[in-house]
Amino acid sequence: METLIPIINRLQEVFLTVGAEIIQLPQIVVVGSQSSGKSSVLESLVGRDFLPRGSGIVTRRPLVLQLVNVPPLEERRKQDNGNSLQVSLFEGFTVLTADTNIVSKKIGISPEPIYLKIYSPNVLSLTLVDLPGITKVPVGDQPEDIETQVQEMILSYISNPNSLILCVSPANSDLATSDALKLAREVDPDGRRTLLVVSKLDLMDAGTDALEVLLGRIIPVRLGIIGVVNRSQHDLNIQKSLDDSCKDEQVFLQRHYPSLASRCGSRYLARTLSRLLMHHIRDCLPELKTRVTVLTAQYQSRLNSYGQPVEDHSATLLQIVTKFATDYCNTIEGTARHIQTSELCGGARICY
Ligand code: GDP
Ligand code: NA
Ligand code: MG
Repeated sequence: METLIPIINRLQEVFLTVGAEIIQLPQIVVVGSQSSGKSSVLESLVGRDFLPRGSGIVTRRPLVLQLVNVPPLEERRKQDNGNSLQVSLFEGFTVLTADTNIVSKKIGISPEPIYLKIYSPNVLSLTLVDLPGITKVPVGDQPEDIETQVQEMILSYISNPNSLILCVSPANSDLATSDALKLAREVDPDGRRTLLVVSKLDLMDAGTDALEVLLGRIIPVRLGIIGVVNRSQHDLNIQKSLDDSCKDEQVFLQRHYPSLASRCGSRYLARTLSRLLMHHIRDCLPELKTRVTVLTAQYQSRLNSYGQPVEDHSATLLQIVTKFATDYCNTIEGTARHIQTSELCGGARICY
């Protein structure tokens, strides 16, 4: 997504200049059953470790992650004397872990979102939403209606037409029963904004593979089906880096899905999302163009009212000043007792 950053920044500048509403990139909402790999997928997209991951419900509240593109630190220091925009990824991580623990085990989950803003020159200004996983059976002290609670929470996020729905389904469970896809269908029946990520390709039973699923022969998904291999719990325990994980993922895909390797994996997922965002931006451009055209016409007619362009610039300037003075004088007509506009060109003398 890094290639999009300069493009968006340039466009935002233009939008600001012509006073149009700034491009709202779609928010990306991750939906899936508990432990399907949602947080892992988000992390590989952002390219940083900062989300809590593990077995059980780790994400207990919606996490609204707002990435904000800002100039590099040196430039920011110059601009605002090192005041506001200083949130580092590390600080973000601390805030997040502290906050997820606030929800007591009794409540189980809470619809109250945690907002986390990350200011960085290396991110797209984009919102990612990590949601608690879909659960069927309440465990421990969880409320009886936990399934409904989670579903309602998810629906409230994905029914927003500006949400891109990233359904995450593990390869080692039946896709036909994917609750994520079922929920997505409810709010996006045409599949215009639903993308399917099949996680845990490495955890399939020996002798089985996800080829049919990935080819869309089981359930077709219009925007695409992308298989990924994220870090396992063991990988996390040994602190395997995202970079290494990405390399191993490629090796795995080449070995097990050679015909699909170029259309799978975390990097391809990031590229696909970039492409979808690009389409969105392209859809915003006609409005921007209209806006620019209207403004150009407005300024042109104002310019025309100042007279024909003349080669001699001092003469043009004089005309403009005269026109301005006349307009100005007309407006104060009444208060001015005696105005000799004719004199303006020569000596700029106004008599009262
Ligand atoms: P979430 O609950 O949907 O957010 O899932 P997490 O991202 O927290 O992942 C749950 C567990 O599954 C963690 O222990 C991850 O390490 C593990 N996991 C996620 N994706 C994969 C994968 O593609 N392969 C393997 N082997 N483990 C994965
Ligand atoms: Na989890
Ligand atoms: Mg999670």
